[in-house]
Amino acid sequence: MITADEVCTPGGQRVLDKGMTLNRQLIMRLSFYQIDTILVEDAAPAPDTKNDSGQTAHDPGSSSQESAYSAKVRSSPRFYKFRTDHSIVMAVIKSSLDGYVKQGIPPQPEDLLEKACKLFASCKTTLDLFDMLNNMRSDEDSIYVHSLNVALICRRLGKWLKMSPEELDLLTLCGIFHDIGKLKIPAEILNKPGKYTDEEFQMVKNHPKYGYDLLEPLPLDTHIKNAALYHHERSDGSGYPLGITQQENDDYAMIVAIADVYDAMTAARSYRAPLCPFRVIANFEKEGLQKYKPKYILTFLSHIAGTYQNNQIRLNDGRDAKIIMLNQNSLSRPVVQLDDGSCIDLSSQRGLQIDAIL
Ligand SMILES: [Fe+2]
Repeated sequence: MITADEVCTPGGQRVLDKGMTLNRQLIMRLSFYQIDTILVEDAAPAPDTKNDSGQTAHDPGSSSQESAYSAKVRSSPRFYKFRTDHSIVMAVIKSSLDGYVKQGIPPQPEDLLEKACKLFASCKTTLDLFDMLNNMRSDEDSIYVHSLNVALICRRLGKWLKMSPEELDLLTLCGIFHDIGKLKIPAEILNKPGKYTDEEFQMVKNHPKYGYDLLEPLPLDTHIKNAALYHHERSDGSGYPLGITQQENDDYAMIVAIADVYDAMTAARSYRAPLCPFRVIANFEKEGLQKYKPKYILTFLSHIAGTYQNNQIRLNDGRDAKIIMLNQNSLSRPVVQLDDGSCIDLSSQRGLQIDAIL
């Protein structure tokens, strides 16, 4: 790994320069100064790696330009504060979920909910929340980080859907508990860097069932249990583990499904850098209406796209522009204005696309 920024102690003493390749000696130096988190350059993507949604993770959308925006967010004080608060809430979720799965200690949903809501409230705007989440990095404890992120995204989407405060709380809990079944899968399989064997993939695909079995005896709302069981199901019956359709699915599980996939695509992974949000929107637009409840996915995508209105972007031909108007029928392809004042409607220029937010 290569340092993406210079590394200093809290007192301002420089420990490492930007652009240094980490070796054992440098890592020991970090350890000596008790620095346990630093920014590193995005890893090069590995081709043809399967994730737990069965999607092949290739990475046309993340580029070196994307790193510039990410680096800007990651070096901001508000990101530092959010990351600290996020890791505290994540640790509480970890001890609660682990305590239940490994020792049978029943979780305290009210406590988890209160902490997640407080973190959610610390982000004043949608851009804030998504900028923060899109740049969270953690290789270890990723189930817990992902569960918290999905809970936060669910709460945001629930607000856009104008759900009541009680429904929002329930939805947030659905996010926190949705992947608890993964804790039943050996870590060496979950964290395996390469492609799963068919047998391993089958086991990973059973995590919704394991999750439901774990939650079933607890005095939790049925929607929370259903979200664990159904969050990988798809409206057209193409999901797993049961292959049910939208009519048989649970509304809360269908919201969790969207937040789950969004977080998986925008988070940094060991095999690729985070995807540009417009690339994620384009992916959803391709098959979103068949796979997700239209009302939920359309609400989600229009708000995400709207979040970046007026932002500077870079096109795939290298030109910089500003997003000036959204196309409701093609949210990943807005109208943009170039630096010379001329405008391009990306919905009619299929060869062009947004490669990065600047
Ligand atoms: Fe899952």
